[in-house]
Parts: sequence; structure tokens; C-alpha cells
Amino acid sequence: MPKKTTISIIKCDVGSLAGHHIVPKPIFDVAEKNLKKASEEGVINSFCVFNAGDDLELLMVHEKGEQNHMIHELAWNIFREAADKASQLKLYAAGQDLLKDAFSGNVRGMGPGVAEIEIEERKSEPIVVFAADKTSAGSFNYPLFRMFADPMNTAGLVIDPNMLCGFKFEVIDTLEDKSITLKCPEEMYELLALIGTVGRYIVSRVWRASDDLICAASSVSKLSLIAGKYVGKDDPVMIARAQHGLPAVGEILAPFMHSYFVQGWMRGSHWGPLMPVGLKASKCTVFDGPPRIVALGFQVADGKIACDDDGNLLIADLFDDPAFATARREAIHNACTLRNMGEFEPARLSAEDMEYTTIQQVLEKLGPRFKPLDA
Ligand code: 13P
Ligand code: 13P
Ligand code: MG
Ligand code: MG
Repeated sequence: MPKKTTISIIKCDVGSLAGHHIVPKPIFDVAEKNLKKASEEGVINSFCVFNAGDDLELLMVHEKGEQNHMIHELAWNIFREAADKASQLKLYAAGQDLLKDAFSGNVRGMGPGVAEIEIEERKSEPIVVFAADKTSAGSFNYPLFRMFADPMNTAGLVIDPNMLCGFKFEVIDTLEDKSITLKCPEEMYELLALIGTVGRYIVSRVWRASDDLICAASSVSKLSLIAGKYVGKDDPVMIARAQHGLPAVGEILAPFMHSYFVQGWMRGSHWGPLMPVGLKASKCTVFDGPPRIVALGFQVADGKIACDDDGNLLIADLFDDPAFATARREAIHNACTLRNMGEFEPARLSAEDMEYTTIQQVLEKLGPRFKPLDA
């Protein structure tokens, strides 16, 4: 059996400094301390702790496979300890995404978001991980479609003979807990018919059609469906493999040259423009946003994240680049346009999506005051 490497990104909002805007240092310290220990004990081979706004992101590279009990328990215990620290510091919404009390083998369905891929390392294995804040699980439908199915974005779909075979997309119906796999380009229109409904259908995995090589995975958890009420947005994560018969890193990043609209932002109840930012701007401020996304690029080599001779991880902060300044400008411009509309649709989510927010309590209060119209 060839040796396999797993890349896991597991995230959780355990509490934030000054509202819902950023993960503060004492929370990072809890994660760093525990992942360093797990690394020394050989549970994981490499790790990187970072944040997307108020979400704590644990990137781990190991050899234990996807949905592994030890890896998920490690993440769960870190989130619990970090939530305790957040409570001590009276951070805002301490333990926000820890929706269940007892760990049951896998963090899926318990609040934290997960994206994982197990791979047989190619000769060179470039990886990009994405993490977004103030948005929802369907927010990656659009860029995943562009990366792996849109020849106007990904030149390789036309130019590279290894990509002419197309790609397969697994789509989850989050309301009915079902999945379907559609192949592009043949079923591109059917795929779009589903994944344009970003609040319900979510692209969870992508494979190359010729050999079923796993290319991408994204988190699909919807917190409101787990908790049965509004507790914060899903703030998704995604992993994509690049190059040599897959989209180039530049093609994976190209969908973010322009901003696009996602569900989330203030109180998880508004459409907002997604803004690609470097890690130093990974914080949500105005109207708790605008929704932001960060991207880290690295090489996986011999079961680890490649490092320099001193053991420092070689990780690129890909959106920390003036090439994304236009997207940022567009995001701010569109944010202003939407906020000028206040609480009127389409700035606010549709009534259907608002069902999963706290507005229901307001509407119930008004219910008895409605009188029938005279016939
Ligand atoms: P609270 O101020 O009641 O927490 O609600 C606003 C909010 O930030 C929702 O998460
Ligand atoms: P988060 O889901 O990022 O915690 O945001 C909650 C919120 O209500 C922001 O206004
Ligand atoms: Mg929060
Ligand atoms: Mg968040």
C-alpha cells in the first residue's frame, strides 16, 4: 500500500475579542501549545494555527486518514480548553460553536467545521487552504465551480490534455441530508441548477474525472441546522490541490480577483461582498465584516508541510498581495451600496433564509396583533 498523507483543517469559533471580530493571542497560545505537544508525540507531523476573523483554524498534516478519532479528539479538546480560556477572559460568545457537550468520535455535526483530504503525494504537492469569516458553507460553490469547471477561469481545462477529462463534483443537500455527484462539463448546467442555491446545496468534494484523484474538499456544516437555532454562521474552510493536471495555484486564486456576494455578515442575516485579505487584515469590523477570506499556500512533502533548514514552515499568505486590491476595493464599494439599503432586501437575506435567524422571535411577538382584512 502506498503511503498516504492527510491534510485536515478543523475550525471553531471559541470566543472573540471585542464582539465577533478576531481571535486574540491567549486563544492562539492554547492551540499552539497543544498542537506542538501532539507533534512531539507523533500524533501529527506538522501544524499551523491561524485565524479567519473570530474563527480559530487548526491546519494539521498527518498520516491517520480522514475522520480519524485521535485527530478530531485533539481538535475538540483544544477547542474546549480554548473556550474555557475565553470564558475566563470573558471574551464574547465564549464556546460559541461547541454545540455538543461530549465528544463522540468525530467533530462533524458538533459545531466545528472540517475539511480533509487524504492523498498519495505526487512528485510535488502544492496545496492551498482557504478560511472565511462572516459567511456560510455555500460560499465556496462559486469559486469551486470557476476553478474546476469554468474554462474562462481555468485555462488548463482547455490547454492541458490532463484536464480535458473534466472534474466530478459532490453536492450535499443540507436540508435533506443527501448527496449527488455530477460530472463537468457534461452535467455543468445541472450542477449550476443546484449549486446556485447557496443556502441549501453545497459542493463538498471535487475529483478529477479520469482517475478519481481527489482535488478539493470543503466544510459543509450548517450550525443553525445542528443547533436548531441561530448561533453564528458556518464560516467555512476549504482545501484545494494544485498544478500538474489540476488547476494551477494562479487559477485557484483567480476567482478571487473580483469580490462576489455571500450570505452572512451582521448577525448572519445579510448578503455581503467577500473580501480576500492577508492574515494581518483577517478581522471583521464594519457591520461585523465585510465577510473576509484568507488563503495559505504550501507544499506537502513526505507527510509534512515543507520547512526550511531551521524547521520553519514555508507558508505563503496568498491574498497578502496588491493583485487582490481591486477585489478589496470592489468589496468595500459594494458593502457601502448594500448598507445604504439598511434592512431592506436584497441587503437582508430572503424571508426563507431569515427563518434560521433570531427574527422569528420578533415575528412571533407580532403574530397575535395581525387582524384579518375586511372581506
Ligand atoms: P448578541 O449581541 O445578542 O450576541 O447578538 C448579536 C450577535 O452578535 C449575534 O451573534
Ligand atoms: P460569527 O458567526 O463569525 O461568530 O458571527 C456572528 C455574528 O452574528 C456576527 O454579526
Ligand atoms: Mg463569533
Ligand atoms: Mg466567525
